[in-house]
Order: sequence, then structure tokens, then C-alpha cells
Amino acid sequence: MSLHLDVFTLVPSAFAWLTERRPLSAVLGTGLDLRLLNYRDFTPLKGGQVDDEPYGGGAGMVLRVDVAAAALDTVYGGIPDHRVVALTPQGRQLDQAVVEELAAEERLTLLSARFEGFDERIVRHLASDAISIGRYVLSGGELPAMVIVDAVARLLPGALGDEESGRIESFSAELDGGLEYPQYTRPAEFRGWQVPEVLMSGDHARIDEWRRAESRARSAA
Ligand SMILES: C[S@@+](CC[C@H](N)C(=O)[O-])C[C@H]1O[C@@H](n2cnc3c(N)ncnc32)[C@H](O)[C@@H]1O
Repeated sequence: MSLHLDVFTLVPSAFAWLTERRPLSAVLGTGLDLRLLNYRDFTPLKGGQVDDEPYGGGAGMVLRVDVAAAALDTVYGGIPDHRVVALTPQGRQLDQAVVEELAAEERLTLLSARFEGFDERIVRHLASDAISIGRYVLSGGELPAMVIVDAVARLLPGALGDEESGRIESFSAELDGGLEYPQYTRPAEFRGWQVPEVLMSGDHARIDEWRRAESRARSAA
């Protein structure tokens, strides 16, 4: 079963590097069916217009509700019955639980904006959810969309190679939702900074115990 994920954006080209690399490249066409859709391709307005000045005055341009509605109508024949997420700093804060929730959907649509953001009627009437990736303001919804696409793709079967562990990671059930333990690699000593002896002991029970203790300590801090 694939996740059908559509991203509406004014900058589809921004996603190029993401789709060329894991985890996206590993699941595209199998576990993930990703479409990058440009509002400009659906606008009923002349000259590819998608935004307009804010009522009441003020700086910046606002993504028009008629343009977003036309895009959804053309692609889905109306407001879809699956989740349509508006990406906005004013939305529900993204965390791993929300990512897992999104990854469990069969179909998902992400709406991004630029400049001053969405006409509020897009968020209220066309979207089902509003999600923020953090309490700061970015210039557009492309990076938030990529954050969600990447985090969701990691959870899809076949996304991660043998060298990547998706099961034991920060916020995973394996670590009781806590933070991952510290990781080290060669050299064992660098500028006097030593790798903890236990990790080189070969004693897997002790290593596991140490890692779980470190994870608990970090998570409680
Ligand atoms: C410059 S922001 C608009 C900010 C908006 N005027 C406000 O003050 O809330 C332009 C667009 O970038 C995206 N964006 C910016 N920061 C975001 C965040 N933290 N989470 C999700 N989307 C964000 C949204 O799509 C937003 O509409």
C-alpha cells in the first residue's frame, strides 16, 4: 500500500534534491506516490496570478482562496475527503507523534504558501489541519513541506538502508519516546576525547544497559 502525497507549492523545483536522495529515492514509486503541484498551473486568473494584496492594508501578498480552491477542484474534483494540511507557523506543532499520524494516512495533501501566507478561508474551509514545524517564521512552506515529507518517508517500508536504523531512534517506542543515546565511531581517541570504554567491550548486554541508561538520562534532562 502506498501513501499518496500531494504538495501544492509555488516552487516545485525546491524539492529536487530531496527526491534524489534517501529516504525519498528509496520509496518513490513504491511506498510513496509524490506529486508536486504548482498553484500557478491551476489559477483561473490572468498571467498566472495566485496572490493579492491584503484587505485592510499592510505589506506583502496573500495566497488567494479562489486559486487554492481551483487547484483542489482540478486535482480532486472538490475538497478532498482525505487530510489537507495547511503549513503555517500558526498551526499545531509538528512532532514525531504527528509524523506517525500522517504516515498512517493513505492520502495526504500539503498546502504551502509564501509571502504573507494564506487567505484565512483556505485554512478554515479548504484545509482540514494546520501544522507548524516550529515557532519561527520561514519565507515559504517548501521547507516545512520537505520536513514533513522526509520525516514521513523515513517511516515507510524500505525507506532506510541497512546502515540506517529507523527503529531505535529519538522519540521511538523502543526508547519509550525518549532521546537516543550518544553515538561514537572511530577513532577511539581524538585530542584526548575518549569513546566510552563500554562501547568497545563487546559485551552487548552491558552496551544495551549503558545505552538505555544514557537515553533515560538525556530524556529526563
Ligand atoms: C512568511 S510566512 C507567513 C507568516 C504569516 N504572515 C504569519 O505571520 O503567521 C509564509 C509561509 O511560509 C510557511 N511557513 C513559514 N514558517 C512556517 C512554520 N514555522 N511552519 C509551517 N509553515 C511555515 C507558511 O506556508 C506560510 O504561509
